[in-house]
Amino acid sequence: MNTGTPLLEVSDLKVHFPVRSGVMRRQVAAVHAVDGVSFSIQPGETLGLVGESGCGKTTAGRAIVGLEAATAGSVRLDGLETTTLTPAEFRPHRRRVQMVVQDPFSSLDPRMTVGNIIAEPLRRYRRGEDTEKLVFEYMDRTGLPREFARRYPHEFSGGQRQRIGIARAIAPQPDLIIADEPVSALDVSIQAQILNLLKDLQDELGVAYLFIAHDLSVVKHISHRVAVMYLGRIMETADADELYRNPRHPYTQALLQSIPVADPKRAGNTAPITGELPSPLDTPDGCPFAPRCPFADDTCRHITPPIEPVEARHTVACHHWKEIL
Ligand SMILES: Nc1ncnc2c1ncn2[C@@H]1O[C@H](COP(=O)(O)OP(=O)(O)OP(=O)(O)O)[C@@H](O)[C@H]1O
Ligand SMILES: [Mg+2]
Repeated sequence: MNTGTPLLEVSDLKVHFPVRSGVMRRQVAAVHAVDGVSFSIQPGETLGLVGESGCGKTTAGRAIVGLEAATAGSVRLDGLETTTLTPAEFRPHRRRVQMVVQDPFSSLDPRMTVGNIIAEPLRRYRRGEDTEKLVFEYMDRTGLPREFARRYPHEFSGGQRQRIGIARAIAPQPDLIIADEPVSALDVSIQAQILNLLKDLQDELGVAYLFIAHDLSVVKHISHRVAVMYLGRIMETADADELYRNPRHPYTQALLQSIPVADPKRAGNTAPITGELPSPLDTPDGCPFAPRCPFADDTCRHITPPIEPVEARHTVACHHWKEIL
């Protein structure tokens, strides 16, 4: 595995949203959507970012592409710090990180043809090249029949729409794609097709992915590494096979237990997670998972666990990971 300069290095990233109240709109609190997140992605690699709804995955992705301002911390693209760039300074680098979202057409003009939808980023980022030829190239690459070019998004199924969203994202030749729950809205059989397409495109183009999902089963086969997020923090990170084989954080273990497994001998020691995800409003010190953790004690409730190495490429943020098997 590549261990050179990371393509993306996120260090202690925080994104807090002010909560305002009253006539003067005074800030009364802050939503700690992303609260000290660190991870890196190598060129051509896929990092699966997994966690429950509301844990801050989308906000982290949006901060990486510059759509959300970082409250603190750093985002480096090939060593270049991007959080302090002005929009004008960021513009020449914007092409390098593209996004694929759950429903690519929620944000698009329904009166645009598929051809124009794919042509748009080409006209912006690859001026001077033969746009029509490239539109067809990217339609071929994403398995879209060329005659679709003159049709409109509403005529297509969810899977086909996602192919169009992917064609649009790869057309600017990005180094990294933030794929934010790209298959969550699709039928299971279609999910596999889209996952395979993303994998094939990675093999052909060498693009890296930050692949966001809310359960571990979706990212299992596509990820080289996996980071598990909870209430704005990363609880555990490891190579994918290591994480599924040797999960050390009680939250990761609980998430894995909610995946149906074929092997009846594979017995864990944590019960499925109960209770609601607490609010990320001004989160107190201590482990964010403590209120739902079967192993939590006073230390967990008051002291934020440091990120510790389990093995060379495996880290966990839990006071008790050594005692929990
Ligand atoms: N613009 C905003 N202003 C205030 N709070 C926000 C804003 N955007 C997100 N949040 C809050 O930040 C937290 C994280 O939201 P985010 O959308 O990043 O989570 P997520 O992990 O992507 O969830 P999901 O799986 O539902 O997509 C949530 O509590 C959300 O309500
Ligand atoms: Mg989201």
